Amino acid sequence: MQSLLVLLALGRLASGTDQRTCGFASCHALKEGMLNVHIVPHSHDDVGWLKTVDEYYNGDKSYIQPANVSRILDSVFEQLMADPDRRFIQVETAFLWIWWQQQNETTRDQYRHLVRTGRVQMAGGGWSMPDEATTHYQSLIDNFSWGFKFLNDTFGPCGVPDVGWQIDPFGHSRETAAIMAAMGFQGTFLGRLDYQDYGLRKNLSNLEVLWRASDHLGAEANIFTSALYDEYGPPPHCCWDVRCRDPDISDGNSESITRSFMTYVNEKAKHFKTNNVMITMGSDFTYMDAKRYYTNTDKLIKLVNARQADGGAMHLVYSTPSCYLKAVNDARPVVATKHDDFLPYASEPAAYWTGYYSSRPTLKYMERLGNNYLQVCKQLSALAGLRPASLDALRREMGIMQHHDAITGTEKEAVANDYALRLSSAIAGSAQLAREALGVLLGGNSSSSAELKSCLLLNISQCDVSEQNDDFVVTVYNPLSRPVSHYVRLPVKNGTYSVTDHAGVSQRVQTLPIPSPVLRLAGRQSEAWQELVFRAVDLPPLGLRNYRVSRTSSVGSVHQPVNSSFIGNTLLTLHVESDTGLLAKMVVNGSEVVVEQNLYYYDAYVGLNGGSGTRTNGAYVFKPKTNTPTPFADKATFSIYKGELVEEIQQQFNDWASQVIRVYKGEEHAEFEWLVGPIQMSGSGTQPISRFSSALRSTGEFHTDSNGRELLRRRRGYRASWNVNITQPVAGSYYPVTSRIAIKDEKAGLEMAVLTDRAQGGSSLQDGQIELMLHRRLGKDDGLGVAESLNDTQPARGRHYLVLGQASLGAGQRLLALRKQLQPWLFLSSTADWPADCKHQYAGLRSALPDSVHLLTLEPWGDDTVLLRLEHIAGTGDDGQPYGSVTVDLEAMFAPLAIGWARETTLDGTQWLSDVARLSWNTTDGSDTASARLNPVGLAVSLRPTQIRTFVVRLG
Ligand SMILES: *[C@@H]1O[C@H](CO)[C@@H](O)[C@H](O)[C@H]1NC(C)=O
Ligand SMILES: *[C@@H]1O[C@H](CO)[C@@H](O)[C@H](O)[C@H]1NC(C)=O
Ligand SMILES: *[C@@H]1O[C@H](CO)[C@@H](O)[C@H](O)[C@H]1NC(C)=O
Ligand SMILES: *[C@@H]1O[C@H](CO)[C@@H](O)[C@H](O)[C@H]1NC(C)=O
Ligand SMILES: [Zn+2]
Repeated sequence: MQSLLVLLALGRLASGTDQRTCGFASCHALKEGMLNVHIVPHSHDDVGWLKTVDEYYNGDKSYIQPANVSRILDSVFEQLMADPDRRFIQVETAFLWIWWQQQNETTRDQYRHLVRTGRVQMAGGGWSMPDEATTHYQSLIDNFSWGFKFLNDTFGPCGVPDVGWQIDPFGHSRETAAIMAAMGFQGTFLGRLDYQDYGLRKNLSNLEVLWRASDHLGAEANIFTSALYDEYGPPPHCCWDVRCRDPDISDGNSESITRSFMTYVNEKAKHFKTNNVMITMGSDFTYMDAKRYYTNTDKLIKLVNARQADGGAMHLVYSTPSCYLKAVNDARPVVATKHDDFLPYASEPAAYWTGYYSSRPTLKYMERLGNNYLQVCKQLSALAGLRPASLDALRREMGIMQHHDAITGTEKEAVANDYALRLSSAIAGSAQLAREALGVLLGGNSSSSAELKSCLLLNISQCDVSEQNDDFVVTVYNPLSRPVSHYVRLPVKNGTYSVTDHAGVSQRVQTLPIPSPVLRLAGRQSEAWQELVFRAVDLPPLGLRNYRVSRTSSVGSVHQPVNSSFIGNTLLTLHVESDTGLLAKMVVNGSEVVVEQNLYYYDAYVGLNGGSGTRTNGAYVFKPKTNTPTPFADKATFSIYKGELVEEIQQQFNDWASQVIRVYKGEEHAEFEWLVGPIQMSGSGTQPISRFSSALRSTGEFHTDSNGRELLRRRRGYRASWNVNITQPVAGSYYPVTSRIAIKDEKAGLEMAVLTDRAQGGSSLQDGQIELMLHRRLGKDDGLGVAESLNDTQPARGRHYLVLGQASLGAGQRLLALRKQLQPWLFLSSTADWPADCKHQYAGLRSALPDSVHLLTLEPWGDDTVLLRLEHIAGTGDDGQPYGSVTVDLEAMFAPLAIGWARETTLDGTQWLSDVARLSWNTTDGSDTASARLNPVGLAVSLRPTQIRTFVVRLG
C-alpha cells in the first residue's frame, strides 16, 4: 500500500503536476558576505521589427536578420531539461503561445514542470513587450491581461509573472508603472533612459528607485524600479551564440575571460546599493544555440565560484529578475523615490527619440480603431452570453500591435504592412461574432439575415452599404456606461435623405459635400460626393438603437458655400481671416480669444550617425534641420458650409495638405480634420505639424497625458528629476500625446486643450502654443537599427478636438477623450435584409453609472464568467479639488443579467487580489507600506479617484 502511494507520487512528479516550488522559493541560495552575481539568461525577441512576427518565429529571411524564435524556444527547453540549476526568463507570450500550439503533451508536461519549479520564469509576460509612449492604457492593460490569461490557464499561478521586463522600449511612462503595480508586480526593469539621467543615476547609485506612479493612488501605484546597467546585453566576451561568436571558454582563455568578467562585475557593483548584481546574459534573439550559451555560462560560474576557496568574494548563481529583486529587498536598502516619468528618451545629445511618437500615423490610427472595435465586440459577446473564438484572434493582434516596434512605426515597411494586414484580418474575422451577438440582443431572426456591416474606411469617407442602398439601417452601439449623443456621418449618393429613429420619429438631417482633396485620394473607391449627418441622441449605456435612412429623392440639394468668415454654435464661434482663410480667433461664452492655427512642416537633418551631434532625423529620432517650421501656405483657399446640425470650413493649403474645421450643434469643442499626404518631400524629409497659437499666457508649462490617463505637468527646457541640458530645443521638448495636450492661463482662468484620435508627438514651444506632429516622410535612416528610411507615402487623415474655456483639466476633458476613444460603433444593413420581428433599441445597463465612473472592461473571461473593470475617471475636479470616492452596486448594474458572484482580482484579471502580497521598501522619503486592499463587502464597490478595480463576475 505504502509503495503504491510512493509510486503514485513519483508518477505525478514525472508528469509535471508536482507540488509547486516556483516564485521566490525556487531561487538559488546566495552567500552572505559575498557579492552575489545573478546570472539571468534571456533572449530579447521582438514581436516583429526587421522581419514579421511569423518570419521571426519560423526563422525565415535570415539574410535580413538571423533570428529564429521557434529554435530559441526548442533549444532553451532542451537545455533547461538537461540541468535543473539553469534558469531562463520567458518574456514575449505571443511567441510562447505559437510554440505551445505546436508541442505534444509530453513536451507540454515537461515545460509545465519547468515553470512550476521556477526554472522557467515569466518576466513581463504581456502578449508583447509594449511601447510606453504611444500606447493607450486600455490596450496596455489588455496586452498584459491576455498574456497572463494564457499563462495562468496553461501553467497556473506559477506562470503569472511578478516583475516587469521593459528592457527595450524607448523611454518609460508613469502609467505603465502604475499598471504594473496594480497587476501585483514586485518591480520592473528598464533598459533605456535619457543618457543624462542615466549618467547621474549611475554616479549616485540611484539606478534603483521606488517609483510613485500616481498623483492620486498612493502606495497602490508604487513600484520598485531597476534601470539596467549598460542596457540589456551580456558582459564583454560573454555572448556565446549563433549571432555573436565570442570564443568558447577553454583552458587557454579561461583565465582572461574570468578576469574580465570579474572586473566588469566589480565595476558595476559600485553603482548598486546591495551585495547583489544582476547580469543580463543574452541579447536580441540569442539562445538559438542554447547548448553553447549554457555550457559556457556553466563554466564561467564554476570558474568564478572556484575562486572562493582562495578567498574570492564573488558568488555566481543562475537567477531571474524576480530572484534578484527578492535578494535586493532582503538586504533592505534605502532607495530614492521618483514621481515623474522617463520621457522623452535621448540616447545621446543629438538623438531625442521623439520622432517615433508620430511615425506611421495610419498604423497608429488603425490600432486605436482596432481597440474601439475590440471593446465593442467584447461587450457585445459578454452581454449576449457568447465566448466566440474569433475574439481571441483580435485580442492577440491587438496585443501584437502594442509591441515596441509595431505601434511605434519603427519597423521596416514590409513589417508595417504585415501588422496592418494581420489586424485588418482579425477585425474582419470578428464581424460574424458581432452579428451573432447583436442577433441575440435584438431578438427575432436578426442574426440570420441582417448584414450588420462595419464601415472601416469612414476616415476616408467610404462605406459600401450607405453608398449603394437607397434604404438602410444604422445600428448605433454605445460602448460607454453613460448615455451619449453622437453625430453619425456617412458617405451617401447624391440625393435627398430622411432618417427615422427606432420609434419612427423623423430626425433632422444635413448633407455636406465631401472636400475635393478627399474625393481625389488615391485608393479611395467610392462614388459618394456627399456625407449625410444626423444626431443619435442619448444612446443608452452599453446599448444600441436602430436608425433607418431612406433616400427620398435622387435630386440633391446643391451644396452652396455661404459667404461668411465664421462658424459656430450657441457655445463657441471660430473666425477665419477673410483674406487668408486661416483661423484667427474664437469666441467662447461671449469672450473673445486670439487663436490662430496653421499647418507647417519641419525639414530633416542628415548626419553621419556616428559621433555626437551628427545623428540623422529618422524613424526614431526627431532632429529638424531648422528649429522653425515652415508654413505650408500663408493663405488657404476655403469654403464655408452651414446647416442645421453642423457648420464647417473646408480649407486647402496645397496639393496634399487640407483641413476641415467644424462645429456641431450642442458640442463644446471644435473639430479639426486634417489631411496630409502623400507627402512631397522637400530635401531629405518633411514632417507636417498642426500648430495652434493662442493668447494664453501659459508661462512655460503644458500638460500631456500619460497613456491616456493622468495628466503630467511639463515645462519647456526642464526635467523634474535632474538639471537637464537640452541641446535640441524642439526635439527635446516633444512629448508623447496619447490622447490630449493642454495649456493653461492661470490669470485669465483659461485653458486650451487639443485631443487626438491617435498617438502623436506634441509640444508647446512658446507660451500660448500647442503643436502636434501629424505625419513624417523621411529620406534617410537614423542608424538605430531599422536600416530603412521612413518613406511613408500614404496619405493620413485624422482629427483634433479643440477645447477652449474655463480651466477644466479634470473630468470634462477626460470624458470627451473617452467619447472619442470609445466611439459609438456603426453597424449597417440594407433594409431588404432587416428582419421585421426584432427590437430596435437595447440597453445593457439598467441605468447610467455615476458621472465619475467608467466601465473600462466587460468581456467573456472564464467558462461562465466575465471580466469587469470599473475606473474612477476623475482625479481632481474642474476646481482643482480632489473628487471623493464613489460606490457602484454591481448587483443592480446589468439590465438583462443578474450577478451570481463577483471576486476581485489584480488589474490583469488572473490573480485573486487576496492571494497577492507585495514587498515593502525603505525609501529616502519614508517607508513604503505595501498597500493591502480589502475585498468589497457584498456587491457594493467603492472606487477612489483614479482607481481601477477588476472583478471576475459570474452572471446569471
Ligand atoms: C514530442 O515532441 C518531442 C519534440 O518534438 C519529440 O522528441 C517527442 O518524441 C514527442 N513525443 C511524442 C510522445 O510524440
Ligand atoms: C488561474 O488559473 C487557475 C488554474 O490554472 C484557476 O483555477 C484560477 O481560477 C485562475 N485564476 C483566476 C483569477 O482566474
Ligand atoms: C453629385 O453631385 C455633384 C455636385 O454636388 C456633381 O458634381 C456630381 O457629378 C454628382 N455625381 C453623380 C454621380 O451624379
Ligand atoms: C550641454 O551639452 C552640450 C552637448 O553635449 C555641451 O556642449 C554643453 O557644454 C553643455 N552645456 C552645459 C551647460 O553643460
Ligand atoms: Zn526590441
